[in-house]
Amino acid sequence: MAQITLTALDRRKAEGRRFAVLTAYDATFASLVADAGAGVILVGDSLGMVIQGRASTTPVTMADMIYHTACVARGLDASAADRPLIMADMPFASTFSPLETAREAARLMQVGANMVKIEGGAAMADTIRFLTQHGIPVCAHLGLTPQTTDMLGGYRIQGKSEEDAARIARDARLLEDAGARMLLLECVPNAVGKAVSDGAKVPVIGIGAGPSTDAQVLVLHDMLGLTRGRKARFVKDYLAGRGDVAAALKAFVEEVESGAYPAPEHCYG
Ligand code: KIV
Ligand code: NA
Repeated sequence: MAQITLTALDRRKAEGRRFAVLTAYDATFASLVADAGAGVILVGDSLGMVIQGRASTTPVTMADMIYHTACVARGLDASAADRPLIMADMPFASTFSPLETAREAARLMQVGANMVKIEGGAAMADTIRFLTQHGIPVCAHLGLTPQTTDMLGGYRIQGKSEEDAARIARDARLLEDAGARMLLLECVPNAVGKAVSDGAKVPVIGIGAGPSTDAQVLVLHDMLGLTRGRKARFVKDYLAGRGDVAAALKAFVEEVESGAYPAPEHCYG
């Protein structure tokens, strides 16, 4: 069993070969996502909504993240030929200081995460430097950061004004310089997705960030058409017309790798 490494994903970016990322929260889906050929499995704090039935990610705890990361890691042990990297979200209020963040991130690494994801811009630079210096790779989540929607005024597109777009691009560069090994951009215009991806050496994962990012991620339950209520523009139902979960996951991976997803109707042009 070969572990997909950060170096391998850096190389994919350099070669212009896009890769797919999906969330998973349990062993069964983790093994299906691995079999479908994803490069990274994200144990997202979106589990607050899709698993726990909460209204936001705010109530998700470190204990929740550890439990689900351990479940996902166990699901991968036996099954995968190319074992995806496991990225685990640092939950709300777990990143107040570099030392506290490192201690909590280490717990996720010890149950099987290969890296952690931290929401926030320039303010996270010292934390990201501290973690990477201590052997914990970090993905920096920029643009729409769901843990701060109470500050942002809801779930809305970010980086629309020239000033905001420039700030996101500046933050991305700063956090890469601080040691971030991946970036994730959520809900920004295509031009911001392209500028950040072109300007970064590390892979940029997009969700609602246009067609130019190095990777695309969707929440598993969204791309299987299971999520109730209003859907975000970038969501596409891959189970519709297929009726088979494994086939739906494979179709997503193929469409990301070929560039067929995201289509213009999934983007903020
Ligand atoms: O928690 C999550 O699933 C995420 C993705 C939406 C990027 O952070
Ligand atoms: Na998240």
